[in-house]
Amino acid sequence: MYSCYFDILISMEQTFIMIKPNAVEKGLVGEILKRIESKGLKVVEQRMSTLSKEKASELYAVHKERPFYNDLVEYITSGPVVLMKVEGNSAVKAMRSIMGATDPLEAASGTIRGDYGLDITKNLVHGSDSAENAQKELNLFF
Ligand SMILES: Nc1ncnc2c1ncn2[C@@H]1O[C@H](COP(=O)(O)OP(=O)(O)O)[C@@H](O)[C@H]1O
Ligand SMILES: [Mg+2]
Repeated sequence: MYSCYFDILISMEQTFIMIKPNAVEKGLVGEILKRIESKGLKVVEQRMSTLSKEKASELYAVHKERPFYNDLVEYITSGPVVLMKVEGNSAVKAMRSIMGATDPLEAASGTIRGDYGLDITKNLVHGSDSAENAQKELNLFF
């Protein structure tokens, strides 16, 4: 019983989630929030914002040399997004699993990207890819 408690304690994590402009535009905020909460994760902070070019380029700095970078920054600053701090057991991995693969055409149905998207840039939701990056990204916004 104590070791079980300890396991939960050590895998408690926070991750940075952003509902992207096309998902806000399509009225999917409630649906995405419902999936996060149904999974058992907790949204501990949340706010709406329109990202500046500076913030967007900080968030996506690792992609600066990629051919899609300019389109990505243009898109992510094109309208309001919802920024979230999400907490729970293995939150980074749990969120990546309910988001689905980067390309909505490859994402399994039942995932957010698989169910609601067709476009790899406008893929509805961002989620940190490691606990370390989650802390960096959370520090950018919270
Ligand atoms: N090949 C691509 N063409 C256009 N946009 C892309 C491509 N790959 C990734 N993107 C965009 O850049 C974002 C960051 O990419 P990446 O970190 O690889 O994916 P993920 O969001 O699944 O972690 C993606 O969510 C998507 O919006
Ligand atoms: Mg990523």
